[in-house]
Amino acid sequence: MKTEWYKSMAFYQIWIRSFYDGNGDGIGDLYGVYEKLPYIKSLGIDGIWFSPLYPSPNADYGYDISDYKNIHPDYGDLEQFKKVLDKAHSLGLKVIMDLVINHTSDEHPWFIESKKSKDNPYSDYYIWRDAKKGKLPNNWYSLFEGKAWEYCPERDQYYLHIFAKKQPDLNMDNPKVREEIKSIMRFWLDMGIDGFREDVITFISKVDNLPDGLPFIPVANGMPYYKDGPHIHEYLREFRRVCNEYDCFQLGEGPMTTIKSALSYMTGKNKSLDLMFHFDHMLADCIYTEYIQRPFNLRLLKRAFSKWQKALNGKAWNTLYLENHDHPRIISRYGNEHYHRASGTMLAICYLFQQGTPFVYQGQEIGMTNIKLKSIDQYMDVSSHNNYHSFHLKDSIEKRMERIHASSRDSSRTPMQWDSSKNAGFTTGKPWFYVNPNYKRINVAAEENQPYSILNLYRKCLYYRKNSEVALWGDYTEYYKASSLLYVYKRTYKNNQLLIVCSFSSHHLRWHNIKEFKGIKGKLVICNYPNPIHGVLKPYEARVYEY
Ligand code: GLC
Ligand code: CA
Repeated sequence: MKTEWYKSMAFYQIWIRSFYDGNGDGIGDLYGVYEKLPYIKSLGIDGIWFSPLYPSPNADYGYDISDYKNIHPDYGDLEQFKKVLDKAHSLGLKVIMDLVINHTSDEHPWFIESKKSKDNPYSDYYIWRDAKKGKLPNNWYSLFEGKAWEYCPERDQYYLHIFAKKQPDLNMDNPKVREEIKSIMRFWLDMGIDGFREDVITFISKVDNLPDGLPFIPVANGMPYYKDGPHIHEYLREFRRVCNEYDCFQLGEGPMTTIKSALSYMTGKNKSLDLMFHFDHMLADCIYTEYIQRPFNLRLLKRAFSKWQKALNGKAWNTLYLENHDHPRIISRYGNEHYHRASGTMLAICYLFQQGTPFVYQGQEIGMTNIKLKSIDQYMDVSSHNNYHSFHLKDSIEKRMERIHASSRDSSRTPMQWDSSKNAGFTTGKPWFYVNPNYKRINVAAEENQPYSILNLYRKCLYYRKNSEVALWGDYTEYYKASSLLYVYKRTYKNNQLLIVCSFSSHHLRWHNIKEFKGIKGKLVICNYPNPIHGVLKPYEARVYEY
């Protein structure tokens, strides 16, 4: 690692299929991205994370890759990618790619070869096992589609898939597979990209004998045997050496990761990742997955935020995010669709002033919300179907659809709402997926002109951060922890302080008698309402004081 430039950056995540269609076939693409780069830059963003752009049968929308060194024809080609990359760089934007190496598509040539026989050059690229006493090799469930094993008649064996059936897990214990990964990394780094977001990277090393999981853990019963597995650090160090040949950085996705485990990747002798996505703060309205819902609880959210802020301070660096392509929209979860603008801007302030590198997901900056489609057949996401068909089966269809409305990953995958014209200005053709009907009201063009729009508040916060040492580097202290309505924290750096006050209430709140705020003589630098009232917070009001 030559530099730590990623620490003062803010990233924008593009899930390309729904971003902007540049050639009118109804599918977002790199021609569209090229056109919209100045828009991204205008947000105060410094880098782009591309969700997978590679050829893929789209069983899991790009997270099932069939060719790692190419671009999906729906999105363009390598030449167009290079054009986007060069233009991004010329605007001062870094570019990171998704590296999905826990599994490939079952249509990847490696897998097509591997499944042919037990003795071909690729036979050991995946995790194959014989039946055990006439049954599956073990009792693991996949996270996306029933049992974790699929039978292959050609080999009379089963292959392991922790995700969907069309996502066979790679055998990372095979040194040839690791060489392939390194060659993929070099391919993109040589082209000039600046780093990788590494998909479920903590899952790539499995315990040798693949023991049965505990029967009472639903779905993730095998996780203790594939999360943070025995050789994980060794393999990641190998990949790190490749990255060290370039000025690039690595961000790992760590589903269900703990602080202890995250620190083991980001610090010390095993340091192999610069940043990690952790999930704790995404569980303030659900248990383990968004499909198992509970009412939103601000105290859970604050506890998760503060825990990571404290634990990583001075040791490692946080990622800050509220949305991505795997989670439903945040206003529909932690905010309030009836207070769309106010809660959307408050949520922005609540996380953008923490210590770490912020990520903004396409559409989050205009406050896109969940889509409510009538029937499960209209949903595209493999995990939504799995949830619908395997959990809470005693619930009525209406009840299950309610859960889908609140949890589906498709809510964050609807086309980006650019303006109020047909198809939200996303395409001149027929959009590949449903556009959220609220696009007439919620769109980029409409928000450009409103000074207090969600869009303009994101800009304000991102520009403020960049130019503020205390916002970038300050220590974090939480106040008023017991409150179930207010989230209050302070950042401190040298002699400068920022106080961030966020109301999660849909009512007016009197707050001048709260002792921590007595005597604040700070200057109000950001507020999501035009005329703040002394001592009173309006619904979902948020303020940033500098002093
Ligand atoms: C990660 C991705 C998600 C994908 C899964 C399997 O969690 O973010 O979209 O479905 O890995 O690749
Ligand atoms: Ca297109």
